[in-house]
Parts: sequence; structure tokens; C-alpha cells
Amino acid sequence: HRFGFSQKEVEEAFETSARGGNAIKELFNPKPGDIFVCSFPKSGTTWLKALTFAIINRRGHDSSSNNPLLFKNPHECVFGLWVEHFDKIHQSGRVPLISTHAPYHSLPKSVLSLGSDHCKIVYICRDAKDTFVSTFFFVEKRRIKKDEAISLEQGFELFCQGKSWFGPIWDHILGYWKASLEQPNKVMFLKYEDIKKDSYFHVKKLAEFMGYSFSPQEEQAGIVQKIIDMCSFENLSGLEVNKIGKVVNPVNGYQVSSQDFFRKGKVGDWTNYLTPEMAERLDRIMEQKFRGSGLTFSTS
Ligand code: A3P
Repeated sequence: HRFGFSQKEVEEAFETSARGGNAIKELFNPKPGDIFVCSFPKSGTTWLKALTFAIINRRGHDSSSNNPLLFKNPHECVFGLWVEHFDKIHQSGRVPLISTHAPYHSLPKSVLSLGSDHCKIVYICRDAKDTFVSTFFFVEKRRIKKDEAISLEQGFELFCQGKSWFGPIWDHILGYWKASLEQPNKVMFLKYEDIKKDSYFHVKKLAEFMGYSFSPQEEQAGIVQKIIDMCSFENLSGLEVNKIGKVVNPVNGYQVSSQDFFRKGKVGDWTNYLTPEMAERLDRIMEQKFRGSGLTFSTS
């Protein structure tokens, strides 16, 4: 049993990823300029998709009515990397963004071997305690068979054992962290908490990394702040499209209500759900796994 799925779902997911994962790894070729938006689930994917999309798409869409983010969920603006989508990913007119929750070493071989001039990767991660709490509520809210529900304590145990979506969270984070140290021009490593703290600095840095720097004129016109405001939790979660719509996974057909991607959008919500002992346990695991890597998280 893995945290987040029933046994049947786990089997189906493994089957799909074994089939699709191998094909993705072997066959997918990015186009020059493609940017991969990568994350461990519930770490801020929706936010990063909105920001990267808004950065690339900003010209001609800085005002209201013609901005796709106002009438589409961010997950419909940035395509996931599914085998079934290979032909659609590069269709003309699409922004060159491709998203995946795959661990670094499971990315397509081509993506791993090509240089930063061909494709780039932006990764977002988040304090594991908040990621856990966010996952727990996401899963429990969507669970159809209520008799398969697990308690927060059971979920926490599985999470601490590394039995979660896409493997242990620490391996996922470390994979991208190390890659960002080895190839800083190709892999950008972001923390949810840092973007919250200083959105302006990080959104500018993100745009620069992606090759879509803001010009002094754009800055003067307040475009950076407009993008930050448009992609904020408060704005996106309040949009009609994100309150009523559904996002359909093209592979397994699972539907997620758009509003389920938006819960609280806060740093440190774990304090409302985890005991000090639980928090200390997970912090200790993360510290131990990250030791020597140079990666730290503020544990407040
Ligand atoms: P919470 O459950 O803590 O509220 P993902 O997008 O990877 O699925 O992660 C979902 C988490 O990001 C949820 O966290 C959600 O509320 C939060 N989130 C969604 N959109 C956001 C935004 N625009 N800004 C900040 N956080 C956002």
C-alpha cells in the first residue's frame, strides 16, 4: 500500500508507468527551447505552471480578456508528458512547456543528455511537512471509496517510509538538487517557500533562466508584479474556471475538480495537523538524507 493510492490504483499506476514510462524515456525528443516543469506532487506544480506559462505568454496577454489563465486551469495550459500526448506536445502555437512529476533520473534520455541550449528544467519543491499535509487532503478529498480511507497517522507513516507517489520525496528532491548543482544553466531549483517570501526576485530570476527576461520597460510597466498577482493563490483560486471546472488525466481518465488544486496555499500549514513529534521525525529524516548535499530547509 502506498500513501495516496489504493492497491488497485497502485497496480494500475505501475502498469501504466512501466508501459508509458519506458516509451517516454526512450522515445521522447524535446524540441529546442522546450522547458520542463518538474515537481513532486503537491509541492506547488499549479503555481509554477501558471508562472512559467504567464512568463512565456505575456506579450499580448498582459491585460484581461485574452489571457488563457483566466479561462483555463493552469493544468490545461501546460501539458503533461504522457505517451498519448507525444504528437500533441509539439503542436504549433503551444507554449514550449512540458510538465512531469517524474524523478530526475526517469526523465527522457534525450532530456538528460541534451545541453541547456536545447532544453531546460525548472523544479519546484516544498517543505516535506507541508507537502505531506497537502497530499493527505488532496487524496482524501478525492477518494471515491470512503472505506479505503486511511488516517493522517497511517499516511504519515507511509510517507516517512518513502512510500509515496513517485518514490521517496527526499530522493526526488535530491535528484533535481544535484542536477542543478552540476548543470546550473540547465536545471533551476526552486523552493515554494522562497517564491512566497520574495516573489519578485524569484519570478525575475525564473524568467531570466527560461530565456524570457523582463526588459527594463516591462519592469517599469509593472509586468512582473502583474504576473505575480495574476498567478497568486488568491487570484487563481477565485477565478470561476478554477471553481467549477474539471481537469481530466488523459491516461487514466481520472478527473480532478479544478478547485482541488487550490486548498490553502500557505507556508507552514502543517502546524495545524502534525504533532511536534511527527514534525521532528520528518525533519530529522530529511536532514539526514540531505546531509552533505548543501541543501537545507528552514524548519519553522
Ligand atoms: P495546500 O494544500 O497546502 O494548500 P500542486 O500544485 O503541486 O498540486 O500543489 C498544490 C498545493 O499548492 C496546494 O497547497 C495548493 O493550495 C497550493 N497552490 C495552488 N496554487 C497556488 C498558487 N497560485 N500559489 C501558491 N500556492 C498554490
